[in-house]
Amino acid sequence: MLILGIDTSCDDTSAAVVKDRKILSNIVSSQIKIHTKYGGIVPEIASRKHIEWIMDVTENALSKADVALKHIDLVSVCHGPGLIGSLLVGLCFAKSLSYASKKPLIGINHLEGHIHAIFLEKEYPEFPFLTLIVSGGHTSLYRVNDLNSYKELGRTRDDAAGEAYDKVSKMLGLGYPGGPVIDALAKEGNPDKYNLPRPYLNGSFDFSFSGLKTAVKVLLMKLDVKGKNVAEDVKKDIAASFQASVVDVLIEKIKWAVSSERLNRVVITGGVAANSELRRRAQMLKEEGIEVYLPSKQLCTDNAAMIAVSGYHRFLRGESSDLFLNARAYLPL
Ligand code: KG4
Ligand code: ZN
Repeated sequence: MLILGIDTSCDDTSAAVVKDRKILSNIVSSQIKIHTKYGGIVPEIASRKHIEWIMDVTENALSKADVALKHIDLVSVCHGPGLIGSLLVGLCFAKSLSYASKKPLIGINHLEGHIHAIFLEKEYPEFPFLTLIVSGGHTSLYRVNDLNSYKELGRTRDDAAGEAYDKVSKMLGLGYPGGPVIDALAKEGNPDKYNLPRPYLNGSFDFSFSGLKTAVKVLLMKLDVKGKNVAEDVKKDIAASFQASVVDVLIEKIKWAVSSERLNRVVITGGVAANSELRRRAQMLKEEGIEVYLPSKQLCTDNAAMIAVSGYHRFLRGESSDLFLNARAYLPL
């Protein structure tokens, strides 16, 4: 079965062609360069760029997969959660394709897409398993009982981990997105140099990263430096210390959750799951008898192949959407 996937939930315009669970093409056109100068995503600009790019990106995905629209069996589109203007562009485009080609349409939750990214890999876990979705918009733990059966165990009470990376990056004058830059800088810094808080929220599977972000701000005030004035060595040490705190919390929560839910398999996914220190520490969980599954870095960050494979799974269960399908900025899993 050939599935055309579309994701425009945030600042990436993405289209993919997936054959069952095999990726034939997965095009992601990033708007990062456009938003960098504003220090974060400007929703109105993101929507406009999606409108400009969606046609080319979809044509690219079809031609790279060497298929025409008439060969597609299902149009699978992300309809939430995300930036409402951005979501509407992908959704209206997908509806038009589905209507014009008389092919079924299915609406997919972006978070389900992040989880199902693992099914595009050669190795994926049996059910049930634990999932940590850790991205720019979300930091949540779920128990996954079956392909479409999820129980939320906890979520962030304020900033998502990726959001904290982006905000700390801005404070250090490193630009947007912060994750990859801090990841690279941290490799050269001392993670023990600054003792930043570990927000464990004992007894809860929720997360909270806004206090950690404020702690970095207070540290910079104490050091009496800001943005571009921060010395390179200090930047490296702050990046490493901040990252150590985030990763400590994420790994510790995974350990608590697998033990409390009596699970021994975990999938870590979402943009921050591309982080090299988190990936390294996750692999160490294997020593404790936990099976660890990480999608490749390209499949951790936003992409349409994960939406296509999620659509495939739901369609096999007899599900589809009609043209009344709406975009939802807030859409629980
Ligand atoms: O999943 P994603 O592409 O979009 C959302 O659904 O949010 O995640 C984007 C987030 C950004 O906050 C970005 O800074 C973060 O993922 N990110 C990283 C890394 N690569 C991307 N964070 C830490 N380390 C990375 N290597
Ligand atoms: Zn995402």
